[in-house]
Amino acid sequence: MNKDIKKILITEDELQAKVKELGAKITEDYQGKDLLLVCVLKGAVLFVSDLMKRIDLPLEINFMAISSYGSNTQSSGVVRILKDLNQSIEGRNVLIVEDIIDSGLTLSYLTENLKAKGPESVEICTILDKPDRRTTSLNIKYTGFQVPDEFVVGYGLDYAEKYRNLPYIAVLKEEVYTK
Ligand code: PRP
Ligand code: MN
Ligand code: MG
Repeated sequence: MNKDIKKILITEDELQAKVKELGAKITEDYQGKDLLLVCVLKGAVLFVSDLMKRIDLPLEINFMAISSYGSNTQSSGVVRILKDLNQSIEGRNVLIVEDIIDSGLTLSYLTENLKAKGPESVEICTILDKPDRRTTSLNIKYTGFQVPDEFVVGYGLDYAEKYRNLPYIAVLKEEVYTK
């Protein structure tokens, strides 16, 4: 185990089982529809690559990079598009793939932004949800796990850009934040 980890909240096996379950649901719901996954970089990169293998449909994938946290553990509240979509989404069924919904600011901004571009539908799939911290209402179609109000890392989630490569979801030791 990584030396900075205090405890593992969700194991690799639990994550993989949940991703499989979500993939099966999405496969059922989007039968006969034209599905475009939009991965929110960088956090959702591990989740989307696992999830897309579990969706048995002729889907497409694209990426957007959004940032609201920078190197802080608190959202700055200012959402910035660092990389925009390089395609039209008119008439498409867009499924936003995200690693975590915390305040909800990132996704409420992104959903509004995408809905303005004439898609057939825009829905959200997140592996983690931290409902205690929500400051804006959001309609989330697919959720993996609810997590408590603790700063979590791993499976794509970072602290100051590190720990994204951990295959599980974990809480860091306090000393990591203070040094
Ligand atoms: C994190 C996380 C979500 C967002 C959730 O991204 O990956 O995208 O914050 O927070 P919110 O619901 O309070 O908006 P971050 O801005 O850290 O960028 P990253 O994905 O590149 O790490
Ligand atoms: Mn993110
Ligand atoms: Mg981050």
